[in-house]
Amino acid sequence: MNDVITIDGPSGSGKGTIAKLLAKKLGYSYLDTGALYRAVAWQAEQKKINIDDESALDNMLKNINISFENERILVDGQDISAEIRTAEISDLSSRASVKPAVRSALFDIQRILCLQGKVVIEGRDTGTTIFPESENKFYLDASVEERARRRFKELKIRDPEMTMDRTIDDIRNRDLRDSTRNSSPLRKTDDMVYVDSTGMEIDEVVSHILDRLK
Ligand code: DC
Repeated sequence: MNDVITIDGPSGSGKGTIAKLLAKKLGYSYLDTGALYRAVAWQAEQKKINIDDESALDNMLKNINISFENERILVDGQDISAEIRTAEISDLSSRASVKPAVRSALFDIQRILCLQGKVVIEGRDTGTTIFPESENKFYLDASVEERARRRFKELKIRDPEMTMDRTIDDIRNRDLRDSTRNSSPLRKTDDMVYVDSTGMEIDEVVSHILDRLK
């Protein structure tokens, strides 16, 4: 199956930027799976649901209505693309993502969204769990310091109180949680092409991936 290209990697590795550009070059659509976890966290917060209460999340997910329109993410028709990019939602989404009920609900949504055409899908388990049958799997990485620098730039625009030290701590905590959870942890497998983007320009990373496509 080569209609679906998967890109996995830790927080701040540049997956989003790279996946979007790659999709544009290839005429594929693009699916940011992290945005789905963030939408779940956002909805739980709206409904005052404790993020650690798996059965309440499970109930909430039975009625959740998530859609995409021109790369904007909508819940029940409301565009929440900007609201999900805060440090608070980053943390809540990482906590929600350890729950098997959340992963299972989002598994179905991701398969349905991607099987409609050619897609670049990026996240933590897109090559291991969502599309293990893909023939084009990539693992994008970068040093913690470089990833924190990239994240800090984004976060500071929305949250002037944010500091570099807190960004590094948040990234380390999320890395640990994302890679040690029982349910579909972030993992590089032997059939993924490993790309370390530390010190690389965005265009270089995209051409490197284009060269390695089957
Ligand atoms: O990529 P991101 O930072 O927007 O993702 C937010 C959280 O969602 C991340 O901490 C872990 C979770 N996530 C996941 O578990 N599996 C995915 N495929 C994508 C994101």
